[in-house]
Amino acid sequence: MRGTSWIRDPSLAEVGERRIEWTKNFTPVLMRILERFRREKPLNGVRIGACLHVTTETAILVEVLEEGGAEVSICASNPMSTQDDVAAALAARGTRVYAFRGQTTREYYECIGHVLADEPQITIDDGADLISTIHKLYYGIESEELKYVRPIIGDLDVRELLGRMIGGCEETTTGVLRLRALARDGKLLYPVIAVNDAESKKLFDNPIGTGQSALDGVIRATGMLLAGRDVVVVGYGNVGSGIAQRLRGMGARVTVVEANPIRALRALMEGFAVESMKKAAAHGELFITATGNISVIRREHFKLMRDGAILANAGHFDVEIDKRDLEAMSIKRERILPCIDMYVLEDGRRLYLLGEGRLVNLVCAEGHPSDVMDMSFSLQALSAEYLARNRGKLPIDVLNVPRELDELVAKLKLESMGAEVEELTPEQINYLRSWEPGSK
Ligand SMILES: NC(=O)c1ccc[n+]([C@@H]2O[C@H](COP(=O)([O-])OP(=O)(O)OC[C@H]3O[C@@H](n4cnc5c(N)ncnc54)[C@H](O)[C@@H]3O)[C@@H](O)[C@H]2O)c1
Repeated sequence: MRGTSWIRDPSLAEVGERRIEWTKNFTPVLMRILERFRREKPLNGVRIGACLHVTTETAILVEVLEEGGAEVSICASNPMSTQDDVAAALAARGTRVYAFRGQTTREYYECIGHVLADEPQITIDDGADLISTIHKLYYGIESEELKYVRPIIGDLDVRELLGRMIGGCEETTTGVLRLRALARDGKLLYPVIAVNDAESKKLFDNPIGTGQSALDGVIRATGMLLAGRDVVVVGYGNVGSGIAQRLRGMGARVTVVEANPIRALRALMEGFAVESMKKAAAHGELFITATGNISVIRREHFKLMRDGAILANAGHFDVEIDKRDLEAMSIKRERILPCIDMYVLEDGRRLYLLGEGRLVNLVCAEGHPSDVMDMSFSLQALSAEYLARNRGKLPIDVLNVPRELDELVAKLKLESMGAEVEELTPEQINYLRSWEPGSK
């Protein structure tokens, strides 16, 4: 049985609708896909359950999927990232929305329960919380989350749900890591496309999108000048490298902390100071984590930090900056501004945590610029279509986005920006494919 929406404030629908319309100016690829989906209806009758940050771009993705014939239910992929006006606009259009900003853990998982109760046949995740809930239910892995999900799904039979399941899509690095772990354990229950790993996603959304929006989050939260600041970026992967490069562009003095020697060397040769977390902890004025890993900044580092240091996270979960350690070491904690919590340590030093240590770009700003989400969500729409068209034919594994779809998104984006790619001549194609030609 399909539920009714659970949102903060329906009266925000008009503002949300206006912001969604504005965003469409920056999502030309999605709009082209929308036109085709409207004609072809590739998702006719397919129920899609999405667990995504509820932003204006997500609303456009939902519209594309619905124009393609799908019935969409959506919950948030982070308790703090929902834009309530967008949720209201979607609900007013008739989409099932279970999302509002500032959810408790219980409400967050109840909302996931509602999406499951709508019996999705395709899941679209950002961080794998929806799909991993399905797996925990199937394998009977008890957890706090399931205590909240169970009363909502009632007598939903997970086996039957899985029997009708077509496949899933995953948006982010952390989600893909979790899915690969499931597949490695031989426990993955249906095919999932690693949208994150497509080149037209991970080379653009992660460094360029997060690079800009994470700094937007820090600036909106603090109003600080970045030029001349001593900033430490933890993790020099796709996200961290984008953040470090943009910080440098704004005049910050950037130190990189990286666990992988090749990436650390790359950071060094790209002109950054490279240090251990312990060394960097002692001098940084602003710290931004982007590792997808747990407790990368913890007690031993907080002990060394200067008074007034600011801590922000751009990785998927709020585990990178160890909040339990920070709380245990503090004699006082106070929300001094909407996005800033002050922690006062025993010796009187103050550390400031932005956005509760959750994704700073989504909690303290509005997430990625739409132009970038245009690419990521075009891949999501095309991947959902691919799953539907290949229903029952795909292996149960973590699958790559087909190369032709990846390139199609890049080509459409280039076209929309008035650029074009060079066409290779038949001779050049042949040359690149042969081994015989050598030096002349
Ligand atoms: N904020 C956003 O909007 C957004 C967008 C995309 C991805 N993400 C998330 O950002 C995180 C990073 O994604 P990515 O694509 O850059 O991943 P990645 O795997 O490319 O990079 C992560 C890097 O962190 C390093 N690392 C791991 N543990 C470390 C530690 N303790 N100290 C120092 N370095 C460490 C790894 O060696 C790796 O180089 C993920 O959680 C991902 O889901 C967030």
